[in-house]
Amino acid sequence: MDKRADKQTGWSEKLKEMPVEEVGRLIEAATLDRQLFGELAEAADAVRQQYYQNRVFARGLIEFTSYCRNDCLYCGLRRVNATAERYRLGREAIVAACREGYQLGYRSFVLQGGEDGYYTTRRLTAIIDTIKGEFPDCALTLSLGERSRADYAEFRRAGADRYLLRHETASPGLYARLHPDMSWDNRRRCLDDLRQLGYQVGAGFMVGLPGQTCSDLAADVEFIRRLQPEMVGIGPFIPHRGTPLAGQPAGGLGQTLVMVAVVRLVLPKSLLPATTAVGTIAGDGRERAVMAGANVVMPNLTPLAERKKYMLYDGKICVNDSASHCRGCIEGRLKRVGFVLDLQRGDHCDWRRERAAG
Ligand code: 5AD
Ligand code: FES
Repeated sequence: MDKRADKQTGWSEKLKEMPVEEVGRLIEAATLDRQLFGELAEAADAVRQQYYQNRVFARGLIEFTSYCRNDCLYCGLRRVNATAERYRLGREAIVAACREGYQLGYRSFVLQGGEDGYYTTRRLTAIIDTIKGEFPDCALTLSLGERSRADYAEFRRAGADRYLLRHETASPGLYARLHPDMSWDNRRRCLDDLRQLGYQVGAGFMVGLPGQTCSDLAADVEFIRRLQPEMVGIGPFIPHRGTPLAGQPAGGLGQTLVMVAVVRLVLPKSLLPATTAVGTIAGDGRERAVMAGANVVMPNLTPLAERKKYMLYDGKICVNDSASHCRGCIEGRLKRVGFVLDLQRGDHCDWRRERAAG
């Protein structure tokens, strides 16, 4: 192995074993030191290349409800935000959005929404059934928050392939402050259930949350190392004017990219989105996340009439852009930095289809 490749795998090997205190110090140092960040990003890029080459998978994102029963301090959709506009998409509207996505070439869809009691187990399984019936060649990902294990099992039986449930922050104290009436233990329980039920599981966290330190971020790395999720969503915190965290500074691009690189090195085969939030804090944020180790993008398929009502934070990009515009936009952005948009299902590289079929 040449010296450069050696150094790159070296970072990955080191990070897999590094004591959590040291991970915290590394995150702190790499946030301040561009050269150290550059070294991590180069190593992250190299390990991603090894498993996924220069392909970046696309997931068509359908934000199907802006109702939510929770009160997460950072989120614009929190229940008590009376200024939030609420909407729900019915089965037909959701399937129509998938159809548009399918015509644009997408073979992977994500249904995301707040925790909305309107969507009962029955309604959701009917939606999943319909989508998997009409698009059997597509992967279906759910992202609808905490449900019972029995619900997760029903959704899986109905054909859902993947589930995204960011852990948000792995520091129990910070978690508790940000999530009134929710529990860190239940969050973990959900992720464990999803894993046991055979989903490809996505965890993830925000960077730059008010009060978050580098040791909190190291705890996120430790959590990811233990859980070994297939996917990890990492984005900067961005304030929303209608929340108690309005006026707080957003997470930094630099630190967000450090975390993408570190997670890529810890989980070389993972699927890491270049998130909408990172594209919101910087015009070229998504491209830079890809260069630091990300390999997924999630262009929006939500009907335009509802798009701006799904306001998790201020300034969210793409709210006025058609699905086909975003499809072309993101492909062009990736191409300019040497990556290729891959529209196939985009399973984790260790995923076996037999397991996927249950
Ligand atoms: N800033 C950044 N990300 C946010 N999310 C919710 N609110 C914000 C915010 N203000 C993220 C959470 C959630 C995902 C759907 O969006 O991590 O899991
Ligand atoms: Fe939506 Fe660029 S990806 S406008």
